Amino acid sequence: MSIEFVTNPHQKEEDKTLDLTLRPGSFGDYIGQETLKQNLQILIQAAKHRQESIEHVLLHGSPGLGKTTLAHIIAKELGANIRVTSGPAIDRAGDLAAILTNLEEGDILFIDEIHRLNKIIEETLYPAMEDFALDLVAGKGAAARTLRLELPKFTIIGATTRMSLISAPLRDRFGAHYKLQFYTDQEISQVVHRSAKILAMQIDEESSSEIARRSRRTPRIANRLLKRVRDYAQVHNGGKVNLEMSKAALELLAIDDLGLDEVDRKLLLTIIEKFDGGPVGLQTLAAATAEEEDTLEEIHEPFLMQIGFLARTPRGRVTTPSAYRHLGLPIPASQNLLAI
Ligand SMILES: Nc1ncnc2c1ncn2[C@@H]1O[C@H](COP(=O)(O)OP(=O)(O)OP(=O)(O)O)[C@@H](O)[C@H]1O
Ligand SMILES: [Mg+2]
Repeated sequence: MSIEFVTNPHQKEEDKTLDLTLRPGSFGDYIGQETLKQNLQILIQAAKHRQESIEHVLLHGSPGLGKTTLAHIIAKELGANIRVTSGPAIDRAGDLAAILTNLEEGDILFIDEIHRLNKIIEETLYPAMEDFALDLVAGKGAAARTLRLELPKFTIIGATTRMSLISAPLRDRFGAHYKLQFYTDQEISQVVHRSAKILAMQIDEESSSEIARRSRRTPRIANRLLKRVRDYAQVHNGGKVNLEMSKAALELLAIDDLGLDEVDRKLLLTIIEKFDGGPVGLQTLAAATAEEEDTLEEIHEPFLMQIGFLARTPRGRVTTPSAYRHLGLPIPASQNLLAI
């Protein structure tokens, strides 16, 4: 078990059962994201009222914030069937045709990682989303003909962690766009309590706050940490979770008291020590830290920006005085100009 494993918000094999066990099944159980929930509920009620299917929905947000969970809740609230696929799983236009022609009126097609659809598939999807029609090419060369196949009225729910990689034409075919926000510590604490209850664990307020503070404002990580704390308490305290056990378990995982992991700290320290606090470009930073650009951009930067340790300027990334303070470093005079 690497340390990075615990704080990386992407779903891992080990999470699959946990995600399923702990996944909220209704809006009532889904903590936080209040505005988004209200908007979705209106969308759903209006569609139900008109006995129509809802417009295509695009969910955007960092890994582990609850996009897949929401897609399932929407389907349930609509009383609709949900088919699940993902961008990389649809290899050929034929795969997509098979999926689409098997849909029934009112079905939901959930396409996870929709930013990873290839261009040809994406273009096949346009008429399907717009006109509920599928254009198939039959035959080859001069004899090739296009057949237009009618599809039942269905709804696509697309999920993405990388909005910037979605092409404008695809984006525009979604009638509703929603961005999931990072959760507050208080909301994550509620997630922890809810999960503890499902796992039949006793947990006090102090311990749940401790876990919440270190969960990168992400429910999936909170659930993972809760599980680690439970295991630690099992071994060291006869299964009783308290603040002392929680702290000890989390320190062992090298997650600091704000949820920063080793890569976050390395990233900040590199900007501070090698680039005088920035600005520095992503590519240079990836090379200097020996981390993938994608990983830095998708996982570490959003969280560090969220907590105000990192800012993006047109000339690159800069660290803020809060980052220096957290790392116990003196704030250089030039950094005082950044009022964060
Ligand atoms: N609002 C919430 N309330 C309670 N638990 C939540 C909430 N959102 C997510 N979770 C928990 O976090 C887990 C991860 O959520 P989910 O799989 O929906 O994230 P995701 O955004 O689809 O992630 P990815 O981008 O990796 O696909 C869920 O199984 C659930 O247990
Ligand atoms: Mg998901």
